[in-house]
Amino acid sequence: MSTIKYLANEKIFKLDTPGSSYVFGIIDEEKFLLHMYYGGRISDDDIRYRTRTNDYPFTPEKNNRDRGAFLDSAYFEYPTEGVGDFRAGCLRLRDNDGHAGCQLSYVNHKIYKGKPGLEGLPATYVADANDATTLKVRLEDKLTGLIVTLNYTVFEDLDVIARSVGFENAGRDTLYLESALSLCLDMENEDFEIITLNGSWARERHTDRTRIGYGRHEVSSTRGESSHQVNPFMAVLNRETTQTLGAVYGFSFVYSGNFTASVERNQHDSLRCLMGINPKGFTWKLTPGETFTAPEAVMVYSGSGLDHMTHTFHDLFRDHLICGANLSSRYKDAPRPILINNWEATYFDFDDEKLLSIAKEAAKCGIEMLVMDDGWFANRSSDNMALGDWYVNEDKLKGGLKKLVDAVNNEGLKFGIWVEPEMVSPDSDLYRKHSDWAIAIPGRPATLMRNQYVLDMSRDEVAEEIYSRIHAVLSSANIEYVKWDMNRTLCDLGSYALDSDRQGELCHRYMLNVYKMQKRLMDDFPNILLENCSGGGGRFDPGMLYYGPQIWCSDDTDAIERLRIQEGTAIVYPLSTMGAHVSDCPNHVTGRIAPFETRGHVALAGTFGYELDITKISENDRALIPAQVEMYHKYNELVRAGDYYRLASYADNGFYDAWEVVNKEESHALVTYIKVMARPYTRSNVIKPRGLDPKRRYMVSCDKNILGLAGDSYKPLILHGDTLMNAGIMINENAEEMKGDFRSALIEISAV
Ligand code: GLA
Repeated sequence: MSTIKYLANEKIFKLDTPGSSYVFGIIDEEKFLLHMYYGGRISDDDIRYRTRTNDYPFTPEKNNRDRGAFLDSAYFEYPTEGVGDFRAGCLRLRDNDGHAGCQLSYVNHKIYKGKPGLEGLPATYVADANDATTLKVRLEDKLTGLIVTLNYTVFEDLDVIARSVGFENAGRDTLYLESALSLCLDMENEDFEIITLNGSWARERHTDRTRIGYGRHEVSSTRGESSHQVNPFMAVLNRETTQTLGAVYGFSFVYSGNFTASVERNQHDSLRCLMGINPKGFTWKLTPGETFTAPEAVMVYSGSGLDHMTHTFHDLFRDHLICGANLSSRYKDAPRPILINNWEATYFDFDDEKLLSIAKEAAKCGIEMLVMDDGWFANRSSDNMALGDWYVNEDKLKGGLKKLVDAVNNEGLKFGIWVEPEMVSPDSDLYRKHSDWAIAIPGRPATLMRNQYVLDMSRDEVAEEIYSRIHAVLSSANIEYVKWDMNRTLCDLGSYALDSDRQGELCHRYMLNVYKMQKRLMDDFPNILLENCSGGGGRFDPGMLYYGPQIWCSDDTDAIERLRIQEGTAIVYPLSTMGAHVSDCPNHVTGRIAPFETRGHVALAGTFGYELDITKISENDRALIPAQVEMYHKYNELVRAGDYYRLASYADNGFYDAWEVVNKEESHALVTYIKVMARPYTRSNVIKPRGLDPKRRYMVSCDKNILGLAGDSYKPLILHGDTLMNAGIMINENAEEMKGDFRSALIEISAV
């Protein structure tokens, strides 16, 4: 049970979740809001000793002469910069005279059931007010009149605290927020390490774990999107923490634009964790009466290793985030159709006949939807032109879009379409008419990337025009899926419409209007399946999941590269959110050749689909598709809604990869085993599933004859959960069926 209480005498706030406690209080006549504790659940409420108010020389009562010692070491709930705390802070406020400084004092608070939404922003939600409790603490800066409201929500059954911050200029002069982060957590350093998800195009979200040294360790994006390079996530954990043991603090930012996530280890060996909109390039002007909302950041505490953190994020995102923008969206909890996308099949070189031939063949194999990717509009014959001109190219699609969609529907397939609404090609009618709609610094030639510019979505009229063009396309035929792409980052940050002292608002205003467009899309077309995408996985973040339930994971569809990408992604994001397809070999990005079966097993850990020319692949490969389709249907519920366990990591052991999904009832599990490199003269490998009921008996079966000890007759095993979890399952690496690199197997564990 989760609760929030306020102890009036002690002036302490205590937030309890089933397995964690978070405590802070109002201290001193200046009414500082100081943090006391976050970690495993504790029974006592009054732990004021944790503020170290007797710690000479670090408290003002003891040492007002050197007050800076206090300001630079206390654990603040919402630290401000400029008045003596030299660590990076949450808030940097500049007044109209150009001075930066701010000191916040407690004013009042409110505790209530439920969780309000954040105007215009994605955020976790509860469908029933009884499922969450929220605390709002109001603080003020007396000199400027800035009001800062800290929001904290605990969810009934989850070890989660969601935080966001509101600002209001209640003073008489204009103010500028130069940094307005969403979260601070000050705590003692316990020789912590940090996990972040890093990478690049085609190798997004590789896990990096490293010791936290002195100074500031930051991952951040200034690219106008959360980015391929880093993800708005970090975990702080003890050195000895494993998948199943030890403490972890996970932080995730529900936002898709520029962000910062950092830890700073300081002179007193304390740690400050920060998360929020990246202050670099950000300034928000607040005239008297104006407000600003910093996006939501969520914290998860696990006292039992990474597994519990991952499960908590997955449950939170599945139950309280995905499709929150429109709860009537059809795909909030539903299985997704198996799609075939023509990008790697044809690139720009297709017409209606080609697409129809793919659809016909796909229908025979049980595939459920055809997605027409880039190249269907205006004179788009390469990535050099036509973005912005969202009308159908009737030379390619003879007779128009509806005719094609109807024909595809006739084959029994749904139809989906690719769009890239935020972009414009210099060679487009849109740009020729409205060159000032592109983001650029006046007088400075803007940088081209993929030969395109970014539209200035901070301008309502731009967003409006593009939305209405896309709306017209989507209304013109029975379109049931949209892939919303975004293929370059933002730079040359200039808007022709914003005043000079509001140029620093461009990137956030851009995001707000993108969110608004996606919300409109889901309101207008609640039956559409929305898959976000950004040159692969450049905008794979919780913010996007509020609008569409899945995101294209990476342009790298190589099954073996995907192991690392999907492993890192799944630390935070549910498998149901990860766009994953079987593609052709040699793989278009890596040139690697992996068995068709293995490609299917890897894609099964995501949304599942195909990205190949089904009319051209080998007969042998094509013949495997119906069984893969069946496999998807058989295991999708498990993959979509189950608990995910990382059993072994190829990135760590250089040999094999294994993961597992277990349903909530603990009656059904699936282990996927991928042997990456063949290893001669090797003994059977033992893998230990987790999350089973120790007392229950399970039948273990495999799609290959590889279970048991080498030389056995490989009968299905029937064993108790405790045996399976402790003694493990033997995989016969020398079996004929496992010979070669990149071989894989599915092991099913079903209660008997
Ligand atoms: C991006 C996407 C691809 C494809 C192309 C089309 O790179 O990630 O899947 O849609 O754009 O241009």
